[in-house]
Amino acid sequence: MEAPIGVIDSGVGGLTVAKEIMRLLPNEKIYYIGDTARCPYGPRPRHEVRNFTWQMAKALERKGIKLLVIACNTATAVALHSLQKYFSVPVIGVVNPGARAAIKNTKRHEVAVLATRGTVESGAYEEAIASLSSSTHVVPLACPTFVPLVESGEYKSSVARGIVHEGLKPLRDESFDTVILGCTHYPILQHYIEEVVGEHVTVLSSAEETAKDVQEILAQRGELAIGTPQHKFFATGSVPIFKDIAEDWLKLEQTEVARIKLTSSD
Ligand code: DGL
Repeated sequence: MEAPIGVIDSGVGGLTVAKEIMRLLPNEKIYYIGDTARCPYGPRPRHEVRNFTWQMAKALERKGIKLLVIACNTATAVALHSLQKYFSVPVIGVVNPGARAAIKNTKRHEVAVLATRGTVESGAYEEAIASLSSSTHVVPLACPTFVPLVESGEYKSSVARGIVHEGLKPLRDESFDTVILGCTHYPILQHYIEEVVGEHVTVLSSAEETAKDVQEILAQRGELAIGTPQHKFFATGSVPIFKDIAEDWLKLEQTEVARIKLTSSD
């Protein structure tokens, strides 16, 4: 079926998930909304994140998507269940896939979760990991400086490296063999994160497992696409900044990016 897959995030972070969906399912068309004007979601109250997430989901519903990926951990933590109840198309989040990736990898049953303050406070990863393995110890760490860094497009600078090294200092005395990037923006900083935790620790994101979920659901429903996709991206904030980051991260040229306005009546 040639209808698009909807992907939503507070900003450019969900592109890390979109990239993996594009790699695994190259015929699928993606419609993406990044709420860059209101990013970051991490420090916002739950009800606000829930409202914003609903607005994005409804805007994509009107564009006829066949499946929705909440490619934002903060939004998944507060809105996944209510969106799953309301929408007639399948809705998936990134927390369960991330937890699954971590459990598949950890040998010592010690997992560090790097995420936004909202996700850490929600306890969503602890819950998802406990449901898969009750013996796994979780070390959560909020990294509030990382998302603004990525959204500014400054993620390749030496300043970025310094900010990541500083933000991860609390991990120094902790024991873990797996790091799960519990915020979809963080894979963009992955090489700096790997520098800090060292080569004996595996750093994973939820992107690959999420893409596999998308594939499985669409295959089950007989809705896999066969065409040549024309992706569309929408940002609530600056189109040029979004376009630069999207083209750099997705290694695409000439992406179609438009401004979108989301309102509370959505
Ligand atoms: N990328 C999002 C996440 O996975 C949200 C980051 C933010 O807006 O704070 O949590």
